[in-house]
Amino acid sequence: MHTSPGVPGALKVAPSLLSADFGGLAEAVGEVASAADWLHVDVMDGHFVPNLTIGPPVVASLRRHSGLYFDCHLMMTDPGDYLEAFARAGADGCTVHVEVGRTAELVAEARRLGLRAGLAANPDTPFEALEPHLDRVDLVLCMTVFPGFGGQEFMAEVLPKVSQVRRALEQRGLTGRVDVEVDGGIDVDTAPRAAAAGANVLVAGSAVFGSERPWEAAEAIRRSALGAAAV
Ligand code: DX5
Ligand code: ZN
Repeated sequence: MHTSPGVPGALKVAPSLLSADFGGLAEAVGEVASAADWLHVDVMDGHFVPNLTIGPPVVASLRRHSGLYFDCHLMMTDPGDYLEAFARAGADGCTVHVEVGRTAELVAEARRLGLRAGLAANPDTPFEALEPHLDRVDLVLCMTVFPGFGGQEFMAEVLPKVSQVRRALEQRGLTGRVDVEVDGGIDVDTAPRAAAAGANVLVAGSAVFGSERPWEAAEAIRRSALGAAAV
């Protein structure tokens, strides 16, 4: 049983749990639930990125507390070893990085397991690496920081790639099927710039969970982007 992702291409705010209090994750999810379209879950393996976070057991526990769409971002060298575990734990979408290779195989496996399949690119990975896969994914994630840690500065130089992805989806008639996500340094100032470039899923960690009122912070990001959205 999967949670609906909502309309592909529609504006969505996805608070990232990475900046929440890991000692009170269920509570943190509750704090943003009414303002969040998706919950972004950052999975780090200590290999693809120099940090360790959470895995399938935590996703399974959170599933018992929340009906939100779980957007799992797998910053892992070998995501294929864990896709089934994430699907069983209650993930709705799993995004793998194009830099780890075996992309067609990983995306097909995710879909076979009933997951929405996302493909992520680091800031210095060019559009051309994503292009061959656009017609077989449900989401493209353009990282606007180098992955590994929350609270980093937004990299505006990634915005032309976001626009390239959006244009390529339009040319292929895929805008109603594929989401374009940005992740890293998103706040009320950068969200409208990302949305104007063509992003429709805005991941925000520290701007949401670093705030006194995470619910309001997520809403503020949505409002800031609404006027700017290119979609
Ligand atoms: C970075 C993670 C992001 C991170 C974003 O490696 O993939 O999802 O939580 O955090 P902020 O919004 O603080 O940049
Ligand atoms: Zn992420």
